Amino acid sequence: MYNLLKGKKGIIFGALNNRSIAWKVAERANDEGAKFVLTNTPVSIRLGEVDELAKNCNTIVIPADATSVKDIENLFQQSMEILGGKVDFVLHSIGMSPNVRKKLPYDNLDYEYYHKTMDISAFSFHKVLQVAKKMDAINEWGSVVALSYIAAQRTLFEYNDMADAKAALESIARSFGYIYGREKKVRVNTISQSPTLTTAGSGVKGIDGLMDFTERMSPLGNGSADECADFCITLFSDLTKKVTMQNLFHDGGFSSMGMSQQAMLQYNKSFDECDCDLVEKYKLKG
Ligand SMILES: NC(=O)c1ccc[n+]([C@@H]2O[C@H](COP(=O)([O-])OP(=O)(O)OC[C@H]3O[C@@H](n4cnc5c(N)ncnc54)[C@H](O)[C@@H]3O)[C@@H](O)[C@H]2O)c1
Repeated sequence: MYNLLKGKKGIIFGALNNRSIAWKVAERANDEGAKFVLTNTPVSIRLGEVDELAKNCNTIVIPADATSVKDIENLFQQSMEILGGKVDFVLHSIGMSPNVRKKLPYDNLDYEYYHKTMDISAFSFHKVLQVAKKMDAINEWGSVVALSYIAAQRTLFEYNDMADAKAALESIARSFGYIYGREKKVRVNTISQSPTLTTAGSGVKGIDGLMDFTERMSPLGNGSADECADFCITLFSDLTKKVTMQNLFHDGGFSSMGMSQQAMLQYNKSFDECDCDLVEKYKLKG
């Protein structure tokens, strides 16, 4: 450990169980000497295992629905009281789409659900930033990070309305990052993470195949949740003070690839193993 967060205080949203990216970030932040509070929705606290994490990190869990401005205000107020002052870092590790859950395809969305997807997965980030700024709850050179996915830039089969939420999330990081940086020297970034087997990740149809594909396509392989946590820690540390308004890919190089040797091998193999007419037709066409 490097004591990278010694003396720093923070708030971590989104630890549900020990597969959650936020869980790993909390463990790493604890190792690096930070003091922080954990938060999640009341139902996630009840159904998940976050109390166990709080015990291990010698902290507490404050319930908050990230779509509720009132809850976020209460969260910052209580956090500052418990931690003894303003915070230095905030992790937004929140995502949920009722349309994905109900398996409604992108061309048959339920608009109430769509609104919920956007509110939970994107607008909540704006709410956290706006409340923090109004309450002046983040120290100068503080760092706010949210987790994103490459579906914000590229269309990926079955990612559905979460793609729109991630595009908005990344835009909020830039728009708020400008204002917060200019006025309070607070930096705001998103990390675009590889597909990862968490509770939210498992909700994406075909996640196993997707993870295999991105693993084959990425020169360094997929980034794990633990490795993502390491990256978050660097962004919370003083070693990245001038990094802001960025969407930073943590994906083993996937985002810069078009086709890899490994993926091409597997692709060609699929033609050898399958004799269906349609595939033959496309094979002949090259
Ligand atoms: N797993 C992946 O493949 C992957 C890839 C890229 C980005 N991400 C992003 O990483 C973040 C964390 O997801 P994860 O993969 O660790 O899954 P996870 O299911 O462990 O975490 C998602 C969290 O969001 C919380 N949440 C949902 N609604 C909320 C609300 N209204 N208020 C507060 N919290 C709420 C859940 O309780 C849960 O703790 C999400 O933004 C997700 O989109 C995940």
